[in-house]
Amino acid sequence: MTYRREEHNWIPESDLEGVSVDTLAVRAGQIRTGQLEHSDAIFPTSSFVYGSAAQAAARFSGDEPGNIYSRFTNPTVQAFEARIAAMEGGDRAVATSSGMAAILATCMALLKSGDHVICSRGVFGTTNVLFQKYMAKFGLETTFVSLTDMSAWQSAVRPETRMLFIETPSNPLCEVADMTALSALAKANDALFVVDNCFCTPVLQRPFEFGADIIIHSATKYLDGQGRCVGGAVVGPNNLMEEVYGFLRSAGPTMSPFNAWVFLKGLETLPIRMRAHCDNALGLAVWLEQQPGIERVFYAGLKSHPQYELAARQQSGFGGVLSFTVKGEREAAWAFIDATRLISITANLGDVKTTITHPGTTTHGRLSPEDKASAGITDNLVRISVGIESIDDIKVDLERGLAALAK
Ligand SMILES: Cc1ncc(COP(=O)(O)O)c(C=O)c1O
Repeated sequence: MTYRREEHNWIPESDLEGVSVDTLAVRAGQIRTGQLEHSDAIFPTSSFVYGSAAQAAARFSGDEPGNIYSRFTNPTVQAFEARIAAMEGGDRAVATSSGMAAILATCMALLKSGDHVICSRGVFGTTNVLFQKYMAKFGLETTFVSLTDMSAWQSAVRPETRMLFIETPSNPLCEVADMTALSALAKANDALFVVDNCFCTPVLQRPFEFGADIIIHSATKYLDGQGRCVGGAVVGPNNLMEEVYGFLRSAGPTMSPFNAWVFLKGLETLPIRMRAHCDNALGLAVWLEQQPGIERVFYAGLKSHPQYELAARQQSGFGGVLSFTVKGEREAAWAFIDATRLISITANLGDVKTTITHPGTTTHGRLSPEDKASAGITDNLVRISVGIESIDDIKVDLERGLAALAK
């Protein structure tokens, strides 16, 4: 294809074939307006106008492509969708109002009453509640199994099983799933294999290369990277995404144009941020393992981690989240958290600022005591999402926590 740059206000997809994820993060999906702005345009409009009643009818019937209404067509949102789809190597993405809305939309669009889901126990607490409390009301049954116990996955399969759902690495214990094995199990049983890729992002892990059918994102985390907006995305093949898109058009948990614009800006720096997060997290995990007040550190980049080899095969970095148990009970974990000054006490993760939280009473606080116990969420567990501040300064702050334990 030949073209003159000045006549083209977008980069043809063919020009981005074979480029690295770092380049896609900056370049994929941008559509320029007639003003030829360099940064992405933002379209804060709820609806779009037509030249005639006939054109409006053609848009609504689908005979003519184009924008209609921002619940389901908005150019800024579409730019975000195109970029994250390109980075994951999927056909198409559908942006949602949150990560939870991405999971909800996937279930509502692709499952029905009577279907069965197998979900790993080590998922974000609200994902567990969504399946266990709300999806169950509509006749969807979910069995929870250990992420790493392949025989448990095999025995949980039923004739009605239609979806296997995982996070890898898991939140907050950083367990790592064998995606190739789980994908084979899903395919053999005509079920969809869905991977929440929130912890790694496409910069560190590309689940389609290991057989995933659908990828879920909470864009709220690393894709934004600066803790500004809530959003999500579902990525997958065209036929499945058409269904997810149809659900969004009918039900409305849509991403706003402003949030899509923030996520586009976030994606531009995602590759360099992820590398900085990984470097700091590995350094801290190694250091924390040597501290007398710490019982155990959970981070897949540690040689002591049971799935270290698997993580190294599936991921190009070990991620920015780690957790650890302190010697003591809940009071000790809270004392550690309360002693920090620089680190933010907040449940969000994936921010350039380091954050600390007590999963048992925050992100996983709504789980029953039995579910917490089987998911390994103990009272003395602390999770850190390691930011990109100087690692020396983060250590100084964590030393305050360690000193509180010693008291
Ligand atoms: C792994 C994972 N998936 C999904 C979600 C839900 O995303 P959101 O808060 O954007 O709804 C979270 C939120 O913390 C998460 O950690």
